[in-house]
Amino acid sequence: MLPVLALLLLAAVCWVAYNLPKEYLEYVPKSMRNAIHKHLRARPRVVRAQETRTETRKFGEWTAEHFNYPDIEPWSDFDVETVKPIPYRPFRWGPTYPITLGIGSMPWNHWIELDNQYRGTVAIRKQRTQDRGDKAHRTQPGFMAQAEECLSEICSFLAKRYPHCFSVTHVPYDATIQETWGNSIDGALAGAVASITNRITGDVYNFDRLRCEEGSSWNPMKYAGLLQQDDLAVMVEDENGEYRFQAGSICTAGFWRLEDKIGCTLHEIHTRGKVPQFETKLKFSMERFFQKQKVNAPVQRNNYFFQIDDQLSWSEHTNGPEDMWDQATKGPAEGLSRVTDFTTPRPTDSFDKVWFRTERQTLRRLPKTGCILFTIRTYFHPVRDLVQEPGVPGRLADAIRSWPEDVNEYKAGPLYNDVLLPRLDELHAEQIKKGLVQLDAEGEVLGRAVRTYPF
Ligand code: HEM
Repeated sequence: MLPVLALLLLAAVCWVAYNLPKEYLEYVPKSMRNAIHKHLRARPRVVRAQETRTETRKFGEWTAEHFNYPDIEPWSDFDVETVKPIPYRPFRWGPTYPITLGIGSMPWNHWIELDNQYRGTVAIRKQRTQDRGDKAHRTQPGFMAQAEECLSEICSFLAKRYPHCFSVTHVPYDATIQETWGNSIDGALAGAVASITNRITGDVYNFDRLRCEEGSSWNPMKYAGLLQQDDLAVMVEDENGEYRFQAGSICTAGFWRLEDKIGCTLHEIHTRGKVPQFETKLKFSMERFFQKQKVNAPVQRNNYFFQIDDQLSWSEHTNGPEDMWDQATKGPAEGLSRVTDFTTPRPTDSFDKVWFRTERQTLRRLPKTGCILFTIRTYFHPVRDLVQEPGVPGRLADAIRSWPEDVNEYKAGPLYNDVLLPRLDELHAEQIKKGLVQLDAEGEVLGRAVRTYPF
C-alpha cells in the first residue's frame, strides 16, 4: 500500500511541476526550470475548442490561415504636418525596476503610427538604405515569402488607415496562384498588392516592375522600411521552435546593428548584446510567448534609453564609431588596425546633450506565412524638452535610481547620470514649489503608487 501511495504522490508532484502556468515558474528551483522548459517544448500541443492551428502544428511548420484583419478606422483628417508623436513616457517610480515582458494588447487601428516626424524619419531611412545597403535591410535566403507578406500587409494597412496619404493597386486574384492572393487587410479576393503611391513623399513603388528590375537583389523589406517610420524585424520559427531574425529593415536602432543579429535566435540576439537578466527573467516567458502567439492577438510594449547626442540612427557619442564597434565588448572591434581610431565614449558634461529615446514595439503573427513581425518605432526627444512636463523630472530621476547595476551599465548610465540626476532633482523641487506636482500628507508625490501605465 505504502509504495503505491508514494508512487501516486511522486506522480502528482511531477504533474503539478510540469503543468504549472508559466507565471508560477519563478517559484520552482532553478535546476528544475530547465527540465520543465525542455518538457514543455517536447510536449504534444493540446488543442482546446476555439484555439487556432497555432496550438497543433509542429515547430517550423505553418499552414496559411484565413484571417481578416478587423475593420480599420480610416484616419481621414490625419495631417502629417501637425500630428504630434505620441508621448510615451514608460518610466516608472522606484524602488524596483521591472524586468518583465511588459506586453499589452495592441489596438488594431494603431499598428503603424505616423506623425509629424514622418518626413524626417523617412529621409533618414532612405539615406541609411542608400549608404549601407544590406547593413540596413536584408532578407535571408529562403525567407522571401515572409518578407513579401510583411510588405503587403504594411502597404494595405497604410492605405486603409491613412487613405489620403497612401493608395494601393492590386493584381487580379487567381485562386490557383497563391502569389496573387490578397492579404489579411484587403482580403484574399482583392488580389496581391501591385503598387503603392505615397502622397506624402511623392514616391510610387510598382512592385512587379521593381521585382523584375532588381532581380536577385529585390528585397521587399527595403520598401516596407521606406514607407513608414518603424524598424522591422521578421521572426521565423525554426524546427526547434526557436524564433530567428530572418528579414528586416533596421535604420534607426541607435545602439545595435542588423548585421550582428540577422539569422540569430531570440536567445542569441539578447545574450550577445548582454541584455541584463535575460536568462533569468525573460528568456523562458519570451520564447513561450513567441511559440504561442496567435494571429488574432497582436501586442505592444515600450522601453526607454538615453544617449548623449542627437543622432537617431547610431549614437556615436554613446557607443563609438558604428563600423569599428564590437557588440560583445561594446568597444573597438578586434583586428582594428589602429585602436586609436576608435573614439571611446566619454561622459557628457552637459544636460542639454542628453536625449531620451523610447521605443514602441509591436508583435503580430502574420496569417499567410506564420512569421512574427516585430516593429520598433523610436520616439526621440532632448531631455530638456521632456522635463517641462509636470511630474516627469521626479519620476524619471526615481526610475533611473531604481536601475540595478547591470541595467545602469547596459543603459550607459555612467555617460550621463552625473549631469542628469542633479538637474532632474532641481527641476522636481521647482515643480513642487509651483504646484505642478502635488504631495500627500506624508510628503509623498500623489500618484506615486500607480503601477500600471501611464503611471
Ligand atoms: C516579447 C518580446 C521581447 C521582449 C520582452 C524583449 C526584451 C528586450 C529587453 C528588455 C531588451 C533590453 C533593452 C530594453 O530595456 O528594452 C531588449 C533588447 C533588444 N532586443 Fe528584445 N525583446 C523582445 C523581442 C525582440 C525581438 C523580436 C527582437 C528581434 C530583432 C529583439 C531584438 C532586440 C535587440 C537587438 C536588443 C538590443 C540588444 C543589444 O543591446 O545588443 N527583441 N529586448
